[in-house]
Parts: sequence; C-alpha cells; structure tokens
Amino acid sequence: MAIITFANTKGGAGKTTAVLLLSTELARRGYRVTILDADPQHWISRWYEISGGIANISVIDFVTTTSLPIHLKEEKDKTDYFIVDLPGARDALLATAIGLSDHVLIPIQGCAMDARGGAQVLELLQCLRQRAGIHIAHSVILTRVNSLVTTRALQTVKALLSERQVPVLETPIVERSAFRDIFDCGGTLQTMDPQCVSNLDKAQENARAFAEEMMRILPIRLTASERRFGYDTVRDAA
Ligand SMILES: Nc1ncnc2c1ncn2[C@@H]1O[C@H](COP(=O)(O)OP(=O)(O)OP(=O)(O)O)[C@@H](O)[C@H]1O
Ligand SMILES: [Mg+2]
Repeated sequence: MAIITFANTKGGAGKTTAVLLLSTELARRGYRVTILDADPQHWISRWYEISGGIANISVIDFVTTTSLPIHLKEEKDKTDYFIVDLPGARDALLATAIGLSDHVLIPIQGCAMDARGGAQVLELLQCLRQRAGIHIAHSVILTRVNSLVTTRALQTVKALLSERQVPVLETPIVERSAFRDIFDCGGTLQTMDPQCVSNLDKAQENARAFAEEMMRILPIRLTASERRFGYDTVRDAA
C-alpha cells in the first residue's frame, strides 16, 4: 500500500486534475485506488457520482484532519494506492497528510504564484526533515504545460527548481481540453468520444506516461506507511 498526496497551497495549481488522471490510470492497470477527497469543491466526488462509479476506484468525501488517519487505517486492506486531494490551503490537514504520505506530489504551473504555493509545501517538508528527522519523498509535477511552446515563465520555474535541487517528474501534464471535459462527462479518458474531444489520444498518452513514472517511483511493496500501521507484524506472523 502506498499513500500519494497532491499538495500546493495555491488554489488552481492542477491538483484535482492530476489526482483524477493518476487514479484512473492506476485503476485501469488493476490497482485498487482509494481517493481521499479533501477538496472543498468536491470535484472528484462529483465526477465519481456522475460516472456512476469506476471499477477499482472508491472515493471518500469530506476528509478532514481527524478523519484522514482513520480512513487510511480502515481502508488499508482494500487499497493499493491511496491518493489524497488536498485543498489549496496551508493548514493542519496539509501537515497531517504530508506526514502520513509515502510521496508528496507538488503540481506547479509555469508561473510565479504557483511556484510560491509549491515552495510553502517544500518548506513544510524541509521542516519535518530538520526538526523531526522525518524524510518524505516528494517531486514537483509541472502542470498545464503548453504542448507547443515553452514559455519564459516555465523556463524560470524550471531553473529555480533545478537550482534548489528539487526533484521534478519527467512527465509534465500538458494543457488539454480532455482534462477539463472529463469532469463534465464523467468516466475516464478511455470512455470519452474521440469525435468530440480534440487530441484525446495525446491526452491518454500523457496520463499513461504520468502513471507509469509514478509506478516506477512508488511500486507497491512494503512501505513506511504500512509499517506505521503494523503491517510488518501482520505479514511476519502470516
Ligand atoms: N492539464 C490541464 N489541462 C486543461 N485544464 C486544466 C489542466 N489542469 C487543470 N486544468 C483546469 O484548471 C482549473 C484548476 O485545476 P484543478 O481544479 O485541477 O486545480 P486544483 O489545484 O485542484 O485547485 P484547488 O486548489 O482549487 O482545489 C480547472 O478548471 C481545471 O479544469
Ligand atoms: Mg482541487
């Protein structure tokens, strides 16, 4: 079991979109995914509802600082990947979710405002490492990237991240209409109509590459979070 949290204190960075893409791709590959929806706009829960459910995905809505550890404990035996969708805020839930995660993904669009929201998450991760000795793996994922041109703002953000030695995923999430429309249509990129959605094949390929990279970074094995929940003893005993 692995816990992946999407965090950026700036609203609109692309967290929820990335949650949906990663979750549907992992589910398509047969992994059991539990999405913990803590976004006050409940986009994931609404999408799940209009989809009439999605195989291998379950969604828990109204997740709070108190309920998050309880959901993780209760669902751990039924889940391969937990994916946490946080609100764009710097609060106790952010600290709790980060502390429980195996990997924190920080979506950043190529703009200074987003980079600042991402920097607040990176500061929190550094604080955990320095003060409590807890190292949480993390990466930035560049979002809403233009498929045709590299903007100056994006170049600046990339240079800043590289200067600070922040890991950045190889796969950026490109700006695609499919990634917006899916919240209205429901379902997955595979069930959308290619006649109605432009560049659907490229959107599918992008989501595939993103999920494959995450599966390489975080293959399902005995993780720190499983150990926290006592899996060691359970498996050893078995
Ligand atoms: N790759 C993309 N291509 C097209 N539209 C995108 C993409 N990523 C995000 N968007 C759009 O940008 C807006 C914000 O994205 P999203 O809701 O994923 O951000 P968020 O970080 O979850 O925001 P919040 O902090 O408010 O929860 C949405 O309208 C979404 O459809
Ligand atoms: Mg959101």
